[in-house]
Amino acid sequence: MPPRLPLAPLRNLLPFGRGSRTMSSQPTVYVTRPDVDSSGLELLRKSCQVSTWNEALPVPRTELLRQIAGKDALYCALTDKIDKEVLDAAGSQLKCVATISVGYEHIDVEECKKRGIRVGYTPDVLTDATAELTLALLLATNRRLFEANKQVYNGGWKSWAPMWMCGQGLKGSRVGLFGFGRIGQEIAARIVPFKPSEITYTTRTQRPQEAKVVNARYVDFDEMLCNSDFIVVCCALTPETKEIFNAEAFQKMKSNCIFINTARGGNVDQKALYEALKCKRILAAGLDVTTPEPLPLDDPLLTLDNIVILPHIGSADIETRKEMSRITARNILAALAGEKMEAEVGL
Ligand code: NAP
Ligand code: GLV
Repeated sequence: MPPRLPLAPLRNLLPFGRGSRTMSSQPTVYVTRPDVDSSGLELLRKSCQVSTWNEALPVPRTELLRQIAGKDALYCALTDKIDKEVLDAAGSQLKCVATISVGYEHIDVEECKKRGIRVGYTPDVLTDATAELTLALLLATNRRLFEANKQVYNGGWKSWAPMWMCGQGLKGSRVGLFGFGRIGQEIAARIVPFKPSEITYTTRTQRPQEAKVVNARYVDFDEMLCNSDFIVVCCALTPETKEIFNAEAFQKMKSNCIFINTARGGNVDQKALYEALKCKRILAAGLDVTTPEPLPLDDPLLTLDNIVILPHIGSADIETRKEMSRITARNILAALAGEKMEAEVGL
């Protein structure tokens, strides 16, 4: 259970219901992006004093440290590191940190817990969008869509040719999912119609019920690495999964393996991935997430043909992002009222 804030005194602080605050004593919320969908900001503005960073880029650290001081709640994004320093700068009145993302490795949740600060996030709403993007990335990678598309523009398309731009189909293949949570299960459901020979998954906890739905089989990490034609990373980033895809892991993969990552760049030793792709130890990779983000224009990965890189757009579906903005706002309003949040980390 999260630390519960005393209900009655908080209600008195809020502008709705009995004991409403005046305009100037409304709870204060700092939003680290001005470009989140306005529907979320409008919800907050009905009862809170809202201030936002003013550029459509991550707020500079010094500005965040300055602006968070004295605020009751923080609306942040996965590009903001919310650590002890930020919480110290905020002060003891901070009640809630809400991120417009399902991943929350950028927030020091333990430190928040210690201080009774509740942490909100946006699971479920982005599951379908992210699973859809993962399939799009997988298909763009295995059927070489971007490489082929370039040929249309650069004169490389001379004629239809029997073995030109051939890729590796999903049909009859073995697909290994590293992570089988909300998104992993939806990715599996979308892969089934492509008729793979087998879907396997690797997690800490076996999920027989969920696996039955897509006829997936649990395998340990080594078996997944050694036997998969496709490996799809859809796990949480934790100290245990940090750079778990390293040189040793790529060494164990089949030479035709296609590696897809829509989880976090931090799950991969990117230098090892580059080497594996460069020397054709594995066939190809598709990444929606990298380290760092954005990837510098001189990054060696950008010199390779056998990779598709997207700029972290997994959940970038219009309705999804709008609802993510509203959920983040509602999480904040609930926390300020001492009520149950729509989605709270640690519950
Ligand atoms: P979720 O339901 O919590 O699933 C996380 C999965 O990771 C679970 O199956 C979990 O299983 C597994 N996992 C955690 N530690 C593991 C370990 N040591 N070894 C193997 N598996 C492990 O989360 P979700 O909603 O599916 O989201 C997953 C992640 O996707 C997020 O954390 C986020 O980083 C990323 N994401 C990216 C985008 C994007 O734009 N590209 C969008 C949304 C989400 P066990 O706990 O049983 O091990
Ligand atoms: C996106 O990467 C998220 O965690 O929501």
